[in-house]
Amino acid sequence: MICLGIESTAHTFGVGIVTENEVLANESDSYSGEGIHPREAADHHAESVGCVLRKALKKADIEIADVNVVSFSKGPGLGPCLRIAATCARTISLRLSIPIVGVNHCIAHVEVGRWTTGALDPVTLYVSGGNTQIIAYAGGRYRVFGETLDVGIGNMQDMFGREAGLSFPCYREVDEMVRTGVYIPGLPYTVKGNDFSFSGLLTQALKMVREYNLRDATKSLMEHAYAMVVEATERAMAHTEKTELLLTGGVAASPRLQEMCDTMCQERGASFFVPLQSLCRDNGAMIAYQGLLEYCHGRRMNLEDTVVIQKWRTDEVDVIWRQM
Ligand code: FE2
Repeated sequence: MICLGIESTAHTFGVGIVTENEVLANESDSYSGEGIHPREAADHHAESVGCVLRKALKKADIEIADVNVVSFSKGPGLGPCLRIAATCARTISLRLSIPIVGVNHCIAHVEVGRWTTGALDPVTLYVSGGNTQIIAYAGGRYRVFGETLDVGIGNMQDMFGREAGLSFPCYREVDEMVRTGVYIPGLPYTVKGNDFSFSGLLTQALKMVREYNLRDATKSLMEHAYAMVVEATERAMAHTEKTELLLTGGVAASPRLQEMCDTMCQERGASFFVPLQSLCRDNGAMIAYQGLLEYCHGRRMNLEDTVVIQKWRTDEVDVIWRQM
């Protein structure tokens, strides 16, 4: 069975094509403006549809008529962006008379990670621009065991980069400064319960840039942010008694964050997994895989069910594809 999945929750418009056994194609094009203007990003996605879709079909070496199921990111995300993938998927579904499945973007990150790394029942640390969540399966749902109370860790990093005068995107420069900078103590460490907040940390780190220097302030900022999410993740692992950690999302590419996760896992005798970068960042293949998974386990949607949900929570989805 072949599923074509469409992703457009934020910056990236992606088309993935998968079977039960492999990823046949995973093509994308991203809106590259600083920050994100939802309408401009949606315009970018609308203009990218034809090109990205053709590239994906060519890469998979199939015709559009070979597709058996079409899926799309139904949420969470930015309304104007989400509606591009939904509209595309509805068009394909109607044109080919094939089933359509709208899937939860955050859960797709988790499932493509399980599929491709062999992790069975992990606690997932999902770190991206817009999202920062600790997710684990319990009692028929993916539950959130901690999340950001304000911005995602990636957005915080971008805001810092913009204010500090770094080029956009700034993650390479940030990773380099994290590697070579000197840690300065004293920034706020804001973990509340098992949730975390980055806005106060960001404000103080920008002050630190003026008082010390950019390199050391960047190092100190990111050490704090990573330590906060890794501490909360460890607590979720202890609480759920799970022995696997899956790190995913665009920020999963950070070498220092990977190192901290790896150290934490080693210390507690847990296994640590990171999917391929092309499957960590927002992508169509994860949406295709999630669509296929849900379709094969009985998920059916009418067109009326395909309305996007901007604030669709991870824990609102019935996980019909897992037994335990
Ligand atoms: Fe994402």
